[in-house]
Amino acid sequence: MSTAPHSRSKSLWKGKETATETITPPDFEDLNPTITFRHLFAQNLGVRDPLRVIALCDSDAFYAMCEMVRLNLTNSDKPLVVLQWQSLIAVNYPARKFGITRMMNVQKAKELCPDLLAVHVATYAEGEKEPAYRENPDSRTHKVSLDFYRRESVKILQIYKQGLPENAEIEKASIDEAFMDLTRPVRQILLERYPYLAHVPDDAPLGLDTPLPPPPQVSWNHLGTLIPIDPSPEPNDSKEIDMPSTWHDVALSIAAELMEKVRQEINAKLGYTTSAGIARNKFLAKLCASYRKPMNQSILRNSAIPNYLKPMAFQKIRFLGGKFGDALATKYDVSTVGDLLAITLDEMQTKFGEESIWVYEILRGIDHSEVKEKDSQNKSMLASKNLSPAITNFSEGYQWIRVLAAELALRLNDARETTPNLWPKTIVLNARDVKSHETRRSKQAPWPFVREVNVDVIASAADKLWKELIDPHASIKVIGISLGFTGIEGVESGLKGIDTFFKAAPTSKRALDDTEDQAATPDDTDGAKGSGSNALLRNLSKDPSSFVCSRCGKRSSLPQSATRTEAERAAALALMQMEHEDFHVALDLSKVPESAPPVREGGRSGTDQPKKKKRRKESPKGGIARFFNKS
Ligand code: CTP
Ligand code: CA
Ligand code: CA
Repeated sequence: MSTAPHSRSKSLWKGKETATETITPPDFEDLNPTITFRHLFAQNLGVRDPLRVIALCDSDAFYAMCEMVRLNLTNSDKPLVVLQWQSLIAVNYPARKFGITRMMNVQKAKELCPDLLAVHVATYAEGEKEPAYRENPDSRTHKVSLDFYRRESVKILQIYKQGLPENAEIEKASIDEAFMDLTRPVRQILLERYPYLAHVPDDAPLGLDTPLPPPPQVSWNHLGTLIPIDPSPEPNDSKEIDMPSTWHDVALSIAAELMEKVRQEINAKLGYTTSAGIARNKFLAKLCASYRKPMNQSILRNSAIPNYLKPMAFQKIRFLGGKFGDALATKYDVSTVGDLLAITLDEMQTKFGEESIWVYEILRGIDHSEVKEKDSQNKSMLASKNLSPAITNFSEGYQWIRVLAAELALRLNDARETTPNLWPKTIVLNARDVKSHETRRSKQAPWPFVREVNVDVIASAADKLWKELIDPHASIKVIGISLGFTGIEGVESGLKGIDTFFKAAPTSKRALDDTEDQAATPDDTDGAKGSGSNALLRNLSKDPSSFVCSRCGKRSSLPQSATRTEAERAAALALMQMEHEDFHVALDLSKVPESAPPVREGGRSGTDQPKKKKRRKESPKGGIARFFNKS
């Protein structure tokens, strides 16, 4: 199959700005690479594997479906919405048929559908340990709780993990979606199904570098919706299905079988319906997951990429919306991905900085980002509350701190049910004070090693931070407050020395200011390179005099002179490790409020943040990053 013709017509250029004419490689040139036995046998081609297959699976109308499950309505088509105060935050598919949309006012929704079931999300009030469902909670005294949805989300993730082959990599991407790298299991199935691929034929002219024999024709029946290769003038299904397959198509079809099976399992066991996208990388998998919703999976063959992307309004693409999208749209007076293909890499980098290469690549359906399994637990937990009316009095903060502390206690203890030794490194309090010129302020402190984490313990630590944060005599107007744990890790209990050390260690009152000091930061844009102290502690038990940070790879050693007992050395090393991690925590922390502003109550966990937001320092003269900074 040939790759799509690349069009570089100059008439595309209707913009104010003209692209400099340079010779660049044709767009979409890599859609049908030659795949050899060497490719097939290689174990570590990673993101450049020509047979790479990624899926993104997203739950349909998630919060609404959680309520359907809770209310035992999964077999009905009752229109249902989830409310937060007066606004709808989730709308199930039966309700969408009435024209009801997210963020609509509930009165309006009920006019459109008198039979509508409107469920208010659970809420906490001060003094309550558990959230409860109430009909008309008051936003001045209550805080929303998404705990039920988080728990359901964990169950779904467990089914992905159990239901897919063990060598699939699974990364939770948000409360209701996960990426799956199916490259390895698919390759294994491919070799089992087509055993003639397992050996280079004796007469193969180039040995390992011989291209694979022609692939079988894929039958796409029951595997999902195929995104058409040629959507115009009219999609012609039989023509599409008869298109000669590539080995990558075969890989996609195997991935589609695996996804179909696991999605059915989720539905049968938990009652949720999901939609999936299956393609050669994360970006495309995510994009095509919403091609046809709900309860569907869409498959984007490489050959269908150009016609799928070109007519797309680029501002609809995540990361290309917002300020950066506006800047591109205004500068060039264009609106589709196809329009932007006329901008050369050179030009893009001159205007938006070196790292804008990812934009150049995304527009061509290229994305080398990895699917990385994160810790089963979130590294951070954040409970937040938007305050209306604002707090203008210092002592009012304590009440909200208790509400937020109750939520955090519940969440940490929930998480400890699966990982009993979970322990946060740091507690952080953040307030948005519109009177202070800094606007957003935060304080953090090391979290003491206490086995029982309850509302009182958290609230008393947070109260101290509140006192450091807010001057009791100053005039304030706090419109948002959030309380969180960062650096949550499972501490291995086998290390006696460490345990003793933590108990004895004074909880140094070293509250760091939430500065944006990233000067000494290692080049670690996603901050998730490994399971922090878990890995460190494992290191530690092997070599009692040094450790390697799994996040930045740096090795730190105790001085040779140390004539201590093993336990003392372990303790000293643990201290070094904590100090080293503090610096990562400070970095993480500076990212939490920046990239995941607690706009929505209930807060999203640290792992829900969009990943592409690169750091400022990497861009010359503000580069592309300036478009992603907080406004
Ligand atoms: N959500 C939210 N605020 C947003 C976006 C999403 O509270 N700005 C919540 C929604 O209530 C939703 C869940 O996060 O149920 C997942 O969001 P999303 O996948 O975007 O929407 P769904 O409601 O799941 O609907 P769809 O079927 O279109 O995925
Ligand atoms: Ca969803
Ligand atoms: Ca989603």
